Amino acid sequence: MAITCVGVLGSGIMGSGLAEVAARAGFKVIVRSRSQATADAVRTSIDKGLVKGIERGRTTEDERTAIIGRISTTEHLADLAGCDLVIESVVEDLAVKKALFTALDTIVRPGAILATNTSTLPVIDLAMATSRPESVCGLHFFNPAPAMKLVEVIRPLTASDETMAAVTEFAGTCGKDAVEARDRAGFIVNALLFPYLNNAVRMWEQGTASIEAIDTAMKGGCNFPMGPFALLDLVGLDTTVSILDALYEEFRDPHYAAMPTLRRMVSAGQLGRKTKRGFFTY
Ligand SMILES: NC(=O)c1ccc[n+]([C@@H]2O[C@H](COP(=O)([O-])OP(=O)(O)OC[C@H]3O[C@@H](n4cnc5c(N)ncnc54)[C@H](O)[C@@H]3O)[C@@H](O)[C@H]2O)c1
Repeated sequence: MAITCVGVLGSGIMGSGLAEVAARAGFKVIVRSRSQATADAVRTSIDKGLVKGIERGRTTEDERTAIIGRISTTEHLADLAGCDLVIESVVEDLAVKKALFTALDTIVRPGAILATNTSTLPVIDLAMATSRPESVCGLHFFNPAPAMKLVEVIRPLTASDETMAAVTEFAGTCGKDAVEARDRAGFIVNALLFPYLNNAVRMWEQGTASIEAIDTAMKGGCNFPMGPFALLDLVGLDTTVSILDALYEEFRDPHYAAMPTLRRMVSAGQLGRKTKRGFFTY
């Protein structure tokens, strides 16, 4: 199953990162957003990054021309018809994603793979919204996609071995380490990471140690690059609560029940770095 042309649905932070990763790896990429302007903005921002790369000596002018030349943009879903792989990376909303998968199924050539970058939603629900559940899987990239090495390759009950092999090879060509996981909320990384972050908040609420002490302890004691509170602020507390809610909904495990402080901070608009205030002030 040869992949040469990759469609990317969504022009957010992940859609943009995915388009860059695939174009850098030599794939022809079509970015589709709901408006031509936002699709074009993805191409422009990737180009800006490439120009910075040239200034820093990390990219050449020839590489820039080649990478940007492989990226086209559109607002029409129909333009994805000839893609071999489409990666959906729109808002984390099951109804929106299901409707897109149903529409893609009628547009994209038979046999092409439809993948989702969802962090928490059941991939099987997207597979069953199409007439080709054997060709649907998850491809979970991490943020920022160009820098992060890992891709979780998610196998819903219906995916064929051919589909899984093709997307695993695609991730490898993109220079990523692919690991396969079953279709469970949180997959591997988020299912392990978010109870840890939630428990750090619990430990602080119980008065075991200060925020600063917990961060210092986990950096020095585990060699983690940042402590749990700095990471919570980076991820965003709203995103954290929605991932914990998805995990709790799936497993009903109390370790996944978001600590009250997290919800109160979200209500207060203290979401972390993006609002300049979370557990720390920026
Ligand atoms: N941000 C992360 O750290 C991260 C990491 C891995 C995976 N993800 C997943 O990637 C996906 C996209 O996340 P993001 O962080 O890029 O979000 P984002 O908010 O930056 O972008 C969301 C995109 O969805 C589009 N969109 C919104 N409503 C839509 C609709 N009704 N129909 C079509 N498009 C619509 C927006 O225009 C935007 O282009 C989500 O499924 C998310 O769970 C995010």
